[in-house]
Amino acid sequence: VKTRQFKWKVEYMHWSPDGVEGVVMAINGKFPGPTIRARVGDTIYVELTNNLLTEGVVIHWHGISQRETPWADGTASISQCPINPGETFVYRFIVDKAGTYFYHGHYGMQRSAGLYGSLIVEVAKDEKEPFHYDGEFNLLLSDWWHKSFQDQQIDLSSMPFRWIGEPQSLLMNGRGQFNCSLAAQFSKSPISQCKLRGDEQYAPQIFQVHPNKTYRLRVASSTALSSLNLAIGGHKMVVVEADGNYIQPFSVENMDIYSGESYSILFTTDQDPSNNYWISISVRGREPKTPQGLTILNYIPNFASKIPNFPPPLPPLWNDYNYSKTFSKKIFALMGSPKPPTRHDRRLFLLNTQNRIEGYTRWAINNISLVFPTTPYLGSINYGINNAFDTKSPPNTFSKDYDIMKPPPNPNSTYGNGVYMLKFNTTIDIILQNANALAENVSEIHPWHLHGHNFWVLGYGDGNFTTEDAETTFNLNNPPLRNTVVVFPYGWTALRFFADNPGVWAFHCHIEPHLHMGMGVVFAEGVHLVKNIPSEALTCGLTGKMFMKNKHK
Ligand code: C2O
Ligand code: CU
Repeated sequence: VKTRQFKWKVEYMHWSPDGVEGVVMAINGKFPGPTIRARVGDTIYVELTNNLLTEGVVIHWHGISQRETPWADGTASISQCPINPGETFVYRFIVDKAGTYFYHGHYGMQRSAGLYGSLIVEVAKDEKEPFHYDGEFNLLLSDWWHKSFQDQQIDLSSMPFRWIGEPQSLLMNGRGQFNCSLAAQFSKSPISQCKLRGDEQYAPQIFQVHPNKTYRLRVASSTALSSLNLAIGGHKMVVVEADGNYIQPFSVENMDIYSGESYSILFTTDQDPSNNYWISISVRGREPKTPQGLTILNYIPNFASKIPNFPPPLPPLWNDYNYSKTFSKKIFALMGSPKPPTRHDRRLFLLNTQNRIEGYTRWAINNISLVFPTTPYLGSINYGINNAFDTKSPPNTFSKDYDIMKPPPNPNSTYGNGVYMLKFNTTIDIILQNANALAENVSEIHPWHLHGHNFWVLGYGDGNFTTEDAETTFNLNNPPLRNTVVVFPYGWTALRFFADNPGVWAFHCHIEPHLHMGMGVVFAEGVHLVKNIPSEALTCGLTGKMFMKNKHK
């Protein structure tokens, strides 16, 4: 067990993720940020200096439980104040579970800005993974806009509303192609073949393999918007890990991955070794206006530049939701994984709707659209400060007669920042209920992510959740543990977790513009048990004032 120490500087950097120059948020001059590799039980220590010119920053360690360090969760307004330009903040936390994770900015739309990187936790030295492989690769997926993230934020917050549109390119480990294609010769649209030397900022990272070996591909999606489908041309993929949890291995030709999810897959290089093969990502769930992201699986000793002699894998139809559901429903916990409690102490029904508030377009949960307070909840609740947020609890449920198939009859909702106070050490069920958006016949995919916990995914269903029918379909035997789960259009998703991690935790749609538009809620549990919150985490809002006063006493 070690402490892994890092000194990071976050700064803007001119960069060309897809061949068109823009500005990214880089860490130590790198985009994506440096990969952290650690072993389970290690302490990660990151001294983060904000070298952005005029804006705050925080970094969230997505999928890490932050037991006893809820202040290190890196969520602006929840676990800490934004780190101001010129300031340094120290994140210190233990990685207590092996798996594939990532980190990303969690203030405004800093994930869209390119502030992300991989975080990989290996099993302990004397432990073995429950599967074998000869080598491994890491693949961090994201989407990229040519419009700056500041402009995107302004668009989403403006009246009349402006949607940011589809991304210009999909990135694999921060690399994509916009003005050219690796697969131009197979393309129906006129686009030129990429002529790459290999040292361009946007040149794809080639995955080099030896024939007849098994490789582990660690893949995580940090997309701001896009749901993706991943394929390796000609190769089967065996899915073995989801969000840092082992699952019952199953084999697929291609797989869906939503923002906030991570997987490990195994593939065997059993194809004709005189060829190279495509690795592709394609948009799902939204009419694709973004070209496939591509890189090459290079069988040694072929040239890396050798273009596969087949076209890139054809993804499933973007709106074939049954295809996506089939994939999600194949995921079960590996035998021996912790089982969920058989009953719940409290059940929340969370209806998501698109609404308007005073002319602004927003998302709401049970008719409340989340706006973050200036004082971090962790501080205001821990210190018992009044007036830092709405003390009235947000609603547990929504009206039983709500017609999820129609646009909201009353499209108006309100802003709010109340907290669901969860009794410590109780079992919480959440029923995510999807519905029609403002426009007719539109219901979107939303991948929901819970901070500080894994939850069991008990089931998915179409239409309105009705307790009597739905409960009988719950999987209490081997439901997968996850930290992110999708709710399909016009459907529901049921999940269960144990509220045993003292702190304040966000639960939100991982589509960044949706969170920006209010699609999230806040949970608090056992906050009085939290000790030793560094005061540097709370130097803003009412906690900031409190520290000032105490100084002068
Ligand atoms: Cu990866 Cu709150 O998010
Ligand atoms: Cu969403």
